[in-house]
Amino acid sequence: SIDISKLRDLTGHITLDLGYKNTGSTKSAITFLDGEKGILKYRGYSIEELAEKSTFLEVAFLLIYGDLPTTKALEDFQSQITKHTLIHEDMKKFLDGYPSKSHPMAQLASLVCSLSTFYPESLKANSSPETMDLTMIKLLAKFPTIVSFIYKKSLGHPLIYPKNKYDYVSNYLNMTFGQRTEEVEIDPVVVKAMNTLLILHADHEQNCSASTVRMVGSSDCNLYASVSAGIDALWGPLHGGANQAVIEMLELIKEDGGDTEKWINKAKDKNDPFRMMGFGHRVYKNFDPRAKIIKKACDDILEKLGINDPVLEIAKKLEEAALSDPYFVERKLYPNVDFYSGIIYRALGFPTDMFTVLFALGRLPGWIAQWKEMHENKEPIGRPRQVYVGHTNRAFVEIEKR
Ligand code: ACO
Repeated sequence: SIDISKLRDLTGHITLDLGYKNTGSTKSAITFLDGEKGILKYRGYSIEELAEKSTFLEVAFLLIYGDLPTTKALEDFQSQITKHTLIHEDMKKFLDGYPSKSHPMAQLASLVCSLSTFYPESLKANSSPETMDLTMIKLLAKFPTIVSFIYKKSLGHPLIYPKNKYDYVSNYLNMTFGQRTEEVEIDPVVVKAMNTLLILHADHEQNCSASTVRMVGSSDCNLYASVSAGIDALWGPLHGGANQAVIEMLELIKEDGGDTEKWINKAKDKNDPFRMMGFGHRVYKNFDPRAKIIKKACDDILEKLGINDPVLEIAKKLEEAALSDPYFVERKLYPNVDFYSGIIYRALGFPTDMFTVLFALGRLPGWIAQWKEMHENKEPIGRPRQVYVGHTNRAFVEIEKR
């Protein structure tokens, strides 16, 4: 075994692993992932079982506090959250200031960061556990309100405030699809579908956004700002932004006549920057267990809601063709979590540019759990090294002589 402390003084000995393909950044007890076997577990519970039997709030509790809640603990958790669902009225002024067509992820990141201006107690490093806990609760409580306000603003519709009578997911759906003038019935099929999707997105160990949350948090930056940075990391199309990119790609293929072979060939062409969105994963090299559940949920939900979406057929054709294509097989490229999720979001009535925001809503408990664990483990500030490849010594040349 190597005594890491002895390596400290060996300057010049740096491990270079671009993209951290094989470098661990932490020890974590939150999420287990076996990419070869396609296994994903939260705190030891299989994702398949949680998706079937649990609710999103229960899974949030599990991720953050480490165990499934008792009935009493879940009720307390729900009631603490219910107390904090409103956002400060002044937050709406920021919302009003954004162009109505601006991307919801930009609005989400800035609004979440803005929470830190209203709750200065969250800013102190080494706050008491009670303050840390309250900050986590406030963030969980206010996030769905912010997300639905962004959506309502994009439509130019009046905002729907949270209602205490609803559970977490129903409250979110009511704020999103509800109306001020009349009560809207919330379809249990939609509630179940949302719970499933949010659970499947709730954590995924040290991915780009979770690592960002931990990295930013490691400077003792507050939770709101750390999660805001995670939202930005998620936005990119190589990460959570892929769910929006997949639907846009499927639409393009549909408009192009639905010739999936042509698009498969485009993805294989190394001179073409096009990538098959929703395919491939850094860790899963067999299949993404979330994609399996989502594909099945997609069929079920579309059938239950009586929706026939032609892009679902295109998606299935693409998957089938890729699974027998040597390019995809050799590189172990399979559909990931984002491949079918957008089709469900669309069936539920969400516009395309809200898809990544929905991913963020699901990932929030994971980010919080990662941030909390990093603090509890008293991890040092994240500060990678580099291999310098620039100039060595250069003599300064006066500007008129350059
Ligand atoms: N389409 C075509 N070729 C691909 C794709 C794809 N979607 N993904 C990977 N490849 C190819 C690469 O070109 C590379 O080929 P090469 O060996 O001939 O050079 C090989 O497969 C390995 O790919 P890398 O980019 O090295 O794999 P990496 O682990 O760095 O990237 C990633 C993983 C970013 C997910 C990648 O597969 C990708 O861009 N997928 C599309 C975007 C996407 O769906 N992102 C969502 C991921 S899930 C999530 O974050 C929630």
